[in-house]
Amino acid sequence: MARADAILAIDQGTSSTKCLLVDAAGAVVASGSAPLGESCPKPGWVEQDPEALWQSVAAAVAATLTGIDAGRVVAVGLSTQRESILLWDRRTGEAISPLLSWQDQRTSDLAGRLGTPAFRERVRRISGLPLDPMFSALKARWLLDAYDPGRDRSRAGELAIGTVDSWLVQKFGGGHAIEIGNASRTQLLDTARGVWSEELCEGFSIPAEVLPRVTPSTGPFPAVRGLPPLKEGTPVTAILGDSHAALYGHGVRMPGSVKATYGTGSSVMGLIGEPTGGMDAGTCLTIAWQVAGASPAFAAEGNIRSAGATLRWLADVFAMPMDRLIAEAVGSAPTDVCLVPAFNGLGAPYWDDGATALLSGFKLGTARATILRAGLESIPHQVADVVLSVERTTGSTITELHADGGPSANDALMQLQADLAGLTVMRPSVSASSAYGAARLAGLAAGVWNADEDAARQEVAMRFAPQVAEADRTARRATWHRAVERALTAGR
Ligand code: G3P
Repeated sequence: MARADAILAIDQGTSSTKCLLVDAAGAVVASGSAPLGESCPKPGWVEQDPEALWQSVAAAVAATLTGIDAGRVVAVGLSTQRESILLWDRRTGEAISPLLSWQDQRTSDLAGRLGTPAFRERVRRISGLPLDPMFSALKARWLLDAYDPGRDRSRAGELAIGTVDSWLVQKFGGGHAIEIGNASRTQLLDTARGVWSEELCEGFSIPAEVLPRVTPSTGPFPAVRGLPPLKEGTPVTAILGDSHAALYGHGVRMPGSVKATYGTGSSVMGLIGEPTGGMDAGTCLTIAWQVAGASPAFAAEGNIRSAGATLRWLADVFAMPMDRLIAEAVGSAPTDVCLVPAFNGLGAPYWDDGATALLSGFKLGTARATILRAGLESIPHQVADVVLSVERTTGSTITELHADGGPSANDALMQLQADLAGLTVMRPSVSASSAYGAARLAGLAAGVWNADEDAARQEVAMRFAPQVAEADRTARRATWHRAVERALTAGR
């Protein structure tokens, strides 16, 4: 029988569940995944089936451990999509609602009705987050209004509400817990104190009885049962939100570097130390993680709404395959043409739902390649803007940016990012940063490696240093900021 020496990391994401088996030396020795669907029953509504989500976890675990002695797995680390939320029956453990996805916008009217200036200010001050349908609180209110309008079953303790980590904890071994970093994305947590806020729960009409127990990222969580071929009783030693897990996976433990996850949108996150000095308005306060017995690590995060989505839009408009589009864009010289992708307003650091998408600075002779380049550059420009917001919060200079997510595999995009942010961009050898981060914390908590061994483990596969003169960078950034200003004012 093989030595028990490996961590199984499960990354439960919106479109799939991905697993990594990581050995005691930190090497990925196996991986597997299973898809997960979503449905849109009405415009703006996005739901997932909680049972299908569980089946996707089971299938990904089974695929990863095929042909492997599951007795090797010492512990499980979990990273999850955040903010999505569901209701279940506490007695039977059965879901009684769909999972309302973080993408679901059904509560935008409710946000408008609840969102007096005073309430918005209180929400932002206590939770660290702007009042927005993406976060769980409005969805929790909608679920209770739909399934328990009088809140009688909630107050009687019959209903449980939870995010994806809570649901998986319940499926693993019963119990009603939420990891503190995931809790900080619900908009119901007093983030600086790490406890549910009575004022916010009352403001959103959420009885305390439906809420899970807030738990440090290293637990205690119930052990895994019913997930073959994993051994019954395999401990879960770490749970993290996926963005937080990616930051941990990159080896970021101190303020001074940030990570950017490039996908349809982009999440930029950096540690900030104690949140006593207030936050720059461009980013949100989030608990990155908390090791049991230690203080929470706080982070600033900014979510950009359109990154890969901009490229997909351009690919549709110009009917081009993505690889040709990117090759043509990077083959074109930089110009003053800017594309501000405010397709759905602008997220971080501008947070303006009324911003208008625009293409600026073009002339009759402007070539297609110039427009493509402007679209591509909009991604690193926006990431650089959020990095500046993190710098304003921490008061210190960011020097490194860790990149992950599908588009980070593109060297040209990473070089543009280094040039426009004026930072060294680092791409890790393990591309599944969220799963790897969950494995790193779970291995640490299980005693498979110690903090020094873990710190020595950072493997950067590629570094991209800025290659443009500072004056050139400053000029290109100023042109972009003029275009953003037009996008913001054109919508007013
Ligand atoms: O905040 C939502 C985010 O956690 C979803 O991540 O990777 O499932 O798209 P992902």
